[in-house]
Formats: sequence, C-alpha cells, structure tokens
Amino acid sequence: MLHSYQELLDSLLNHLQTLRAKGDRFIIVDQENWAGLRATGATRGSRRLPAAKPRQADSRATASQIISAPAEPSPSSKSQASHERSLGAIPEPAPPPLTANAKVIAMAELRARALGCSKCAHLAASRQHVVFGTGNIDSALMFVGEAPGADEDVAGEPFVGRAGQLLTRIIETMGLTRAGVYIGNIVKCRPDTPGQAFGNRKPTNEEMSACIPFLEEQINIIQPKVLIALGRTALEGLIGGSAPISTMRGRWQSYRGIPLMPTYHPSYVMRTQTLEIKREIWMDMLEVMRRVGLPISEKQLGFFLKA
Ligand code: URA
Repeated sequence: MLHSYQELLDSLLNHLQTLRAKGDRFIIVDQENWAGLRATGATRGSRRLPAAKPRQADSRATASQIISAPAEPSPSSKSQASHERSLGAIPEPAPPPLTANAKVIAMAELRARALGCSKCAHLAASRQHVVFGTGNIDSALMFVGEAPGADEDVAGEPFVGRAGQLLTRIIETMGLTRAGVYIGNIVKCRPDTPGQAFGNRKPTNEEMSACIPFLEEQINIIQPKVLIALGRTALEGLIGGSAPISTMRGRWQSYRGIPLMPTYHPSYVMRTQTLEIKREIWMDMLEVMRRVGLPISEKQLGFFLKA
C-alpha cells in the first residue's frame, strides 16, 4: 500500500528513471492524468526530449524533467518505433528492480499503452481484445507463448483455449497455480486470418518486432528468475535464431541475464500426444523447478516415465 502522496511520486519517479535509463525518450500520458499532473506542478518545464542522443539516467532528475508532454508521434517516429527492435537483436541489460508499488504502477501504465496500440493496423482492426498478459507480477516464473488464438482473442486472456488448458495442467503439476505465475505472449493481438472462419497463423517478423517491446517491458517490470519459452516462435522472439525447438528444448539459454528454458509449445504436445514428447516437456519443467528451488516429490520425478 502507498502511504503518502510523496511515496506515489517517488514510485513514479523511480519508474520514469528506469525507463529513461534504458533509453525511452517519451511516455504517453492521457489527457486526464496530464491535467492532474499539471495541477500538481509536476510537469513544469517538461518537454519532448531529443530523440537522437540517448542520455544516461540522472539520479538528481525530478519528475518534471523526465515527463514529456503528451504528443501524437509524427508518422516518421511511429514507423521508427515500430521497427526499433529487430528480431534477435541483443537487448540492453535489465534495469534495476522496481519496488512493489512501482511495479503495479508501471504494469498498469504499460497495459494501458498496449491496449491502445495500433502499430499493426490490420491486427488492431481485426482483434476483439489486446491479450496483454495475466498472472502474478511478482512471480519467479514467466511463461511466454507465441500469440493469442481465437479463444484468447474473445477472452482477452492468454492460453485459455485447449493448449492453455494443458499449460494450466502443467503449471499445476509443478505444484503451482496459474494465478501464481505470469503468462504472456510475443504478440499481443491475434494474427488475423482474412477470409477464414477459424485457424491460426504464425505472426510475421514485422508483427513480432512491433510487439516485442511490450514483452520486454513486461519482463523488465516482473524480473522473473526464469523465463520459459513455449515453442520455437517464442524462443525466436526472445533470443533470435531459427533452430528447431526439438534441438533447443531442455538447454538453458539466457535473456538479458535471465535464465531461459526453451520447451515445446503445449499445442505441439497436444498434436503429437507421444509419451516421449510429454516426458521431454516435463523434464524441462523439472529443470525449471530445480533452478528456482521448488520442492520436487518422488511422484513428480516419476511422471511420464512409462506408458
Ligand atoms: N498459443 C499461444 O502461443 N498463446 C496463447 O495465448 C494461446 C495459444
């Protein structure tokens, strides 16, 4: 709980400094909040920061120096923003962890921005919901999938369809709950399938590049101990490369210093239904459990050993 207005301002300042330290030049503030901030005097002297020359975070900076005026980005800055992160580019090191309150504020602000995103105009036009992510923002574990399907688009929540039900069972078999971990996707809108009543498609590189900055910010805020990439597209989005998931699964990778476990996508497990694939995804989860120090019972060790 925030105890005072000063604490709220400190949390906001902490978050803004983190954003600026990682190179963000602008934040979007809606009209209502902007009017509120102006009333406090916090925006005095605020301006658009020069985009060309990244500046280091200044620990003496005040909120009024960091917040930039809400302005519609120019078409050129929009297109630059949507291509600012090419797939597999090495991301900057993770920023310092946020306080619990600052995390809540930062995630709410990020969510609001994602929900209003129209970088991929075709997906913004076809979607029912932006599927932002769900779960515990203090979780040690963060599962990352590819993109929402039809069920997720309707519900506005990731992994609620058949593959999602399997993911939920896997999480519960680990002794956890779905609400206790964080679940997100590389792409937050359902990849459209014009002219088709059903079916899914892999997101394009452009869609992935446009959306990954949101996931990066989610990871920065949550700072999980372990990331789990569900399937090849999730792995590609996070660390690049195009190796088949069958050769990458079970082998620890690193995303900005965070251990990353690649494993099969639950929908692949459902499609194949072989004991071997079930055993392999489960072995990957046992590895994850070991890494974060979760207790592992004899029963859990024995799952999928025999038909
Ligand atoms: N598959 C994914 O990769 N993500 C979802 O949210 C649902 C299905």
